[in-house]
Amino acid sequence: MFARSAVRALTSQSRLFSTTVARQTKVAVLGAGGGIGQPLSLLLKSDPLVTSLSLYDIRGAPGVAADVSHVDSASEVTGYAADKLDEALEGVQVVVIPAGVPRKTGMTRDDLFNTNASIVRDLASAIGRVSPTAHILVISNPVNSTVPIVASTLAKAGVYNPSRVFGVTTLDVVRAARFTAGIAGVHPNEASITVVGGHSGATIVPLLSQSKYGQSIKGEVYDKLVHRIQFGGDEVVKAKDGAGSATLSMAYAGAKFTHALLRGLNGEKGVITPTFVQSPLYKAQGIDFFSSNVELGVDGVEKIYPLGPLSVEEEKLMEACLPELKKNIEKGRAFVESS
Ligand code: NAI
Repeated sequence: MFARSAVRALTSQSRLFSTTVARQTKVAVLGAGGGIGQPLSLLLKSDPLVTSLSLYDIRGAPGVAADVSHVDSASEVTGYAADKLDEALEGVQVVVIPAGVPRKTGMTRDDLFNTNASIVRDLASAIGRVSPTAHILVISNPVNSTVPIVASTLAKAGVYNPSRVFGVTTLDVVRAARFTAGIAGVHPNEASITVVGGHSGATIVPLLSQSKYGQSIKGEVYDKLVHRIQFGGDEVVKAKDGAGSATLSMAYAGAKFTHALLRGLNGEKGVITPTFVQSPLYKAQGIDFFSSNVELGVDGVEKIYPLGPLSVEEEKLMEACLPELKKNIEKGRAFVESS
């Protein structure tokens, strides 16, 4: 019984983390004591491409670090208390940010703006000062606004490099594959779906027509699937009944994206995944940040792929996505300008 579950655990770990030759990579988690931060730190401790893990939170990070550090992988783990942010950021190449408040029942991601905007701005400002060349992976919501906040804060400090700032939209991609696979009756690995746009409700646009299994889903089943991918987070918020939003699946998604970036930084070619970055795709419409397939390389963003052919339904989804996304981005920018 034990042996079988151990084998299953190893198999799923090898699916999450491929093993390539590692270089020295120090990764920091800001918000490591939280619902996402704790399991994310554990998963990053198991990632063979992470050689050093720096865990920071205003509450509880040294405890999480002591706990996680006993896991028998090679990386070193250090925890930093509230007044040790600068030390936590020293020498890091990758910073993952799940710091901030999560949604409760009835809240949208935009409702989190007032609290999370200043948390993310202050963390970005510290990164710009201490580790200005680090790659920054933003999990804190609303991602459509927090990524522009990070970009504008770094730009104000004169250290913004658009190839190194990412909004983590991987949970939308993970959900799309899982839900589509459930309908098609196949393994989720076979039902990978490109999800573009942003990371909230109508700004999440799954390109089901580009997937072998997604393209045969039509009518009411299609409408329900799109809605579930866009609003899957609400299922978790409701089921947790006031205790927060997705943490475990988000930690999985965050670790998956971090691993993809580390593979790219290590020189592996062809690492392509959707992520929310500064993008030329809809710049003409005044939208500077957009999620689409991005090739990750030694300097972060290597190539931003266009969307490819869209179905009539996807064109409509894009029409709903773009104005909302534009508003969210402008709100983030305006916040930094007025700070
Ligand atoms: P949580 O409340 O369990 O944890 C947040 C942690 O951030 C806490 O430990 C808190 O002490 C810490 N924190 C607060 N201010 C901080 C600061 N200035 N510096 C460092 N740490 C600080 O929340 P949870 O569930 O972990 O969610 C975190 C964020 O992730 C939320 O904004 C949530 O909306 C977002 N999220 C994003 C998803 C995505 O797909 N990108 C999916 C799910 C959640």
